[in-house]
Amino acid sequence: MAKADAENIAYYRTLARVYDTIVPRDIKGICDSLEEIVGKNNKVKKPHILDLGCGTGRFTIEMAKRGYAMTGLDITREMLDIAKMKARQMGLKVKFLKADIKNFTLSEKAEVAWARGSVGDIIDLADVGKALFNIRNNLRRNGFFVFDVRDFHYHYIKYKTNPGPETRIIKGIDRTTNFTFDYRLDKDSRIGDIEEETTVRDPRGTKTYRTRHQLRHYTKREIARLVRDAGFKSIKILPGYKCEKYNKPRIVVIAKK
Ligand SMILES: C[S@@+](CC[C@H](N)C(=O)[O-])C[C@H]1O[C@@H](n2cnc3c(N)ncnc32)[C@H](O)[C@@H]1O
Repeated sequence: MAKADAENIAYYRTLARVYDTIVPRDIKGICDSLEEIVGKNNKVKKPHILDLGCGTGRFTIEMAKRGYAMTGLDITREMLDIAKMKARQMGLKVKFLKADIKNFTLSEKAEVAWARGSVGDIIDLADVGKALFNIRNNLRRNGFFVFDVRDFHYHYIKYKTNPGPETRIIKGIDRTTNFTFDYRLDKDSRIGDIEEETTVRDPRGTKTYRTRHQLRHYTKREIARLVRDAGFKSIKILPGYKCEKYNKPRIVVIAKK
């Protein structure tokens, strides 16, 4: 495994407990977009969806609640454990698999694969190609893969002057989390280096995590080329999710086998 990938996994292992707090998302809005995409591209009304890099299961669980048969796959045990616990607490039947996107094999091929926020965790471009090729191989004949990656132009404009660390304070019922991150994006490699400090204060005490991870950014043309090289037949690129009205930070890709 590449060094950057191993560092990213160590990052998720450390932050699994606080991940849902520090990375807020419009889960319902994004799932509305996913449902719309699936509805337009698939004959079966509620197909089985494979959630690649499902993390703490935020999207896996929301889609399961909406009646989709879901399988969540992730490489980080600690993230999966949280996803499993949430599904169990909600009485939802969801399959979970601990595996690497680059080399998993499903016993039954998927109709739809979905990846939110996980393709950008793969730093080495040869590995990204490997992952896309493997995902394609695990899809049925007319299956498709929907995923997002960070838009290079959006993030470059935002961070090129290096505005310095940003802090978010997230107050819960009995927990306050201070999340500070410093985002540096290299124009040539398209790799973002993010240093974070997360302090959690709750009845158990105060704990600080200092972490660092990398994320790969893409232009529309770059990601389209990689998807095509992996053998996908048709590609549609959307400038983001519908729920994000302005300033869409992610490129959404629909790749058909
Ligand atoms: C940014 S998180 C996104 C989690 C989830 N999709 C969400 O949006 O809440 C990325 C997830 O991808 C997983 N991941 C990264 N590289 C992976 C790989 N090569 N194979 C499987 N999972 C991977 C990480 O463990 C992490 O849980």
